[in-house]
Amino acid sequence: MSHETQGAGQGAESAPHLDFQGTTPYEDYVRADVLTHLQHPLSDDPGEMVFLVTTQVMELWFTVIVHEWETAARALREDDIPVAVAALKRSVAELEALNASWRPLARLTPAEFNSYRSALGDGSGFQSAMYRRMEFLLGEKSASMLVPHRGAPRVHAELEKALHEPSLYDEVLRLLARRGLPVPAAVLDRDLAARYEPSPEVERVWSSLYAEQRLPGTSPSGDSAAPAELLLLGETLTDVGELVWRWRNDHLVATRRAMGAKTGTGGSAGVAWLEKRAAKSVFPELWTARSHV
Ligand code: HEM
Repeated sequence: MSHETQGAGQGAESAPHLDFQGTTPYEDYVRADVLTHLQHPLSDDPGEMVFLVTTQVMELWFTVIVHEWETAARALREDDIPVAVAALKRSVAELEALNASWRPLARLTPAEFNSYRSALGDGSGFQSAMYRRMEFLLGEKSASMLVPHRGAPRVHAELEKALHEPSLYDEVLRLLARRGLPVPAAVLDRDLAARYEPSPEVERVWSSLYAEQRLPGTSPSGDSAAPAELLLLGETLTDVGELVWRWRNDHLVATRRAMGAKTGTGGSAGVAWLEKRAAKSVFPELWTARSHV
């Protein structure tokens, strides 16, 4: 294919290609035509578009983050901490971008939200399957969260698989056990489809690892490199936990500003229900262990 005649008057040799047989290679890769025609507001309110697109943008970030955490879980299963940490670190930057995307919705007034709220009907982020996959990977398992998706076979099958698989945190604890740390059998053999419950023994494992921390340059010669690698894993997981907690709390504050104490479109008590969800810590023992170091 020749492009020599293109871009007359603009320095043809340095101008981008203009002629393609079918759709552009950009389109074939990005599917921008599909992506930018998935916006179907349900009201005439001009403010609904940014609500819809922000929700779609967040769904895309959830998808990337699930991909990173699945990559990390697989790497941990294979005892490859560097690959796991690299995926978790990418997810930290992605969580920061996800959280920054609250900006356009963070200051909705009740009147602004009311302009399209009734058009949303019973629709609620509570029904987001990709958010649920994130929670499952963090150990927040719950079989009842599959119920809303009974009518969508692909989504239901993906969620069901995720429910029964070890979470990212299960893989971390299994790795710590393989490294000789005293993670109790009851934790290693737990029912994977049940919510992870914090364990005092796991808290002691983390507090002993953190207590061994040596500042750079102060490590006596002969120290094993293993604790440093495990500490890096612990700190990266702590970053993930903090940013997920921030997403939940930014969501809570945006909701409180937009609708006060009214009930949610998904049927919950609204802010009171979200407050309980937002109060939970992610990877609980990584936080409580700090009191004992
Ligand atoms: C300012 C606008 C928003 C308001 C007022 C709002 C309100 C609510 C409320 C009241 C709930 C509780 C369930 C219910 O009864 O509906 C909820 C849950 C949820 N929302 Fe939003 N939301 C907003 C924006 C978003 C956006 C942009 C997303 C992005 C996907 C989102 C994702 C979620 C998720 C994932 C849950 C379930 C949380 C959980 O299971 O712990 N929300 N939202």
